[in-house]
Amino acid sequence: MGRGFLFTFEGIDGCGKSTQINLLSQALTDDGISISVFREPGGTRIAEAIRQVLLNPRNMDMSYESEALLMAASRAQLLRETVIPNLESGKVVLCDRYVDSSLAYQGSGRGLPLEWLRAINRLAFESAVPDITFLLDIAVESAMNRLGTGLRDRMESSGTDFLERVRNGFSALAEENPDRYIVLNGEMAQELLVEKILSHVRKLIL
Ligand SMILES: Nc1ncnc2c1ncn2[C@@H]1O[C@H](COP(=O)(O)OP(=O)(O)O)[C@@H](O)[C@H]1O
Ligand SMILES: [Mg+2]
Repeated sequence: MGRGFLFTFEGIDGCGKSTQINLLSQALTDDGISISVFREPGGTRIAEAIRQVLLNPRNMDMSYESEALLMAASRAQLLRETVIPNLESGKVVLCDRYVDSSLAYQGSGRGLPLEWLRAINRLAFESAVPDITFLLDIAVESAMNRLGTGLRDRMESSGTDFLERVRNGFSALAEENPDRYIVLNGEMAQELLVEKILSHVRKLIL
């Protein structure tokens, strides 16, 4: 692995990932640290094209296997094109979702075998293991309330039972990987959350 640092942000939609990444990016940039931020699925031209297919509400007939493979394809492109080169050149990389989202959504949520998901995402496990994965844990109901009643993309419209399984899947991953995971209560105030995240990040990179 390279000399840089990879920090990933996980949790169900509405838990506050994008908010925290924005606050953290600002704080690190103010510290004079050069960072790269990516969101999954997507993050490169080809990966963004795959994202369009994945999130399009018209693609309700997509098979769970196709969904998992497209997520892995988007990630492989992002890794080869940007994340791995960035880590090799010593950068700090922030990812809004990463391989754990595939294990939680396609594994715990959709019911696909975890060993198959690990196999199709092998590049991530071999070449870019996160230094820290921040899990913003929040009740499904709170997340739904935050998102309101607006239009949902295909993944967001999968229902509360599905999201409960995804939330539990993330918690199980955190328990299995205590060396890499930091679990934070996503209901805390934004400013408090970013302070906690910053202290973990600064301890590692400074
Ligand atoms: N700690 C927080 N407390 C209350 N509301 C929050 C908090 N973090 C984010 N929000 C709000 O919740 C909504 C979803 O946040 P967002 O960062 O977009 O979540 P995600 O990227 O995980 O889907 C936004 O309207 C955001 O302003
Ligand atoms: Mg977001």
